[in-house]
Amino acid sequence: MPDIVGTRSDATRLALLGGAPVGAPERPAFPRITDRARRRVDAALADGAMPEVANRLVGLSNAHPAIGEAEAAIAAWHGVDRCLTTSTGEASLHACLIGLEITGGAEVITTPYTYGCSTSPILHNDAVPVFVDVDPVTGLLDPAAVEAAIGPRTEAILVTHIYGQPADMTALRAIADRHGLALVEDGSQAHGARHRGTRVGAFGDAAGFSCMGGKLLATTEAGYMVTRRDDVYWKTVISCQHAGNAEVPGRAAEAGFPSDLNPFVDSLIYSYRINVLSAILLTEQLAKLDEENANRTRNRDALVGMLADVPSISAPVYPDDDEPVYHIVSLNFEPEHAGISKATYLKALAAEGAPVFSYVETPLHRLERLRPQTRAPRVMWTDRITRAGIDYSALELPGCDHKVERSIEMSWNWIDDDPAAMRRLADCFEKVDAQLPALREHEQRHGHGALSAG
Ligand SMILES: Cc1ncc(COP(=O)(O)O)c(C=O)c1O
Repeated sequence: MPDIVGTRSDATRLALLGGAPVGAPERPAFPRITDRARRRVDAALADGAMPEVANRLVGLSNAHPAIGEAEAAIAAWHGVDRCLTTSTGEASLHACLIGLEITGGAEVITTPYTYGCSTSPILHNDAVPVFVDVDPVTGLLDPAAVEAAIGPRTEAILVTHIYGQPADMTALRAIADRHGLALVEDGSQAHGARHRGTRVGAFGDAAGFSCMGGKLLATTEAGYMVTRRDDVYWKTVISCQHAGNAEVPGRAAEAGFPSDLNPFVDSLIYSYRINVLSAILLTEQLAKLDEENANRTRNRDALVGMLADVPSISAPVYPDDDEPVYHIVSLNFEPEHAGISKATYLKALAAEGAPVFSYVETPLHRLERLRPQTRAPRVMWTDRITRAGIDYSALELPGCDHKVERSIEMSWNWIDDDPAAMRRLADCFEKVDAQLPALREHEQRHGHGALSAG
């Protein structure tokens, strides 16, 4: 009898406070590479493979069958004319800005609530990021804040579809058009997200996507730029891709290359080309992306439904005609209800087995390396930021602060429909929510820092 009582109380007591955890749901291995993809990679590595190309592992343009196939498939899937595969997502975004000639101190209005690689391409192209506020619930760029920040040096808007949530591309496209600005999308976390029925990537003058191993469209390392604009594509390729040689054709040999760019085809380039094996993986992974995305959505919606009666957490609600894809699921902690810090809440959830974390701990405008008097090692953008006289740390961005204070994330590689795993995750949240008084008492006695998830 005492054993049974002991077991029950142990199960309701929070794991953080010494009880038994709910337990982590099993996560599928990710990325899932099909047998067919493995066979194709193997075949590409085999001696004698691809006799139609001079060197099967050197792909400098879409003349290589694996690269041509991947770029055609991606362009068709996005409904755009052009795709240029790249070595990484960061390279793809840099490629966008190069093709659009956004440089020489041009200002780019952008979001501070993102991964730094949304902004580093701006810095690497000798342009100046102008951070503006985001929606406090989704963390997405606020179009009104964008429009208010437009000044005489503004040349572009760079928007990130953070966590797979589509930004308001109708409003941003209209603002860009009204003011004659370029619009660049960072879709690195959002392959397949739709705004009003159209996949992100097709709204911008150019868009960059990451395909590193953790992304929705996961390879080993890769990225791609998509654009409807031929001029952007060709200007990008002369600066970001190998020109080719007599044996292996480069991009300047592609049909349609504009002859006025011929004098500028040389080797003063960023080596941003994709590797052939990643190009094969891109095609193969894309073939099953829609199905995986649908399962991610099904799982996310199931979890959010189960959490409807858990008042310490809420989920963003999206417009009916937007379809996020869930690279990461972002929820919002409700401190007014919980009466404890987000740090303690996260620790309690993690101790139960929920794989939670806070994705943006420091928004970009607060980063030490962007301070005017930073003693950080000098890089190519240090002087540009100093000369521009910008002190980002003085920015007041309340929407961003609100999101950072509340946001709780989970990587969402639940690519199979998995109601049992969702139930387990919901159990973690429900248990912590039911035991908030114990956490409040514990915080009062020990402070926020005294708890450890051990
Ligand atoms: C929003 C965002 N932008 C850009 C990147 C850069 O991609 P990569 O790591 O492939 O360069 C990433 C991911 O790493 C990202 O999450």
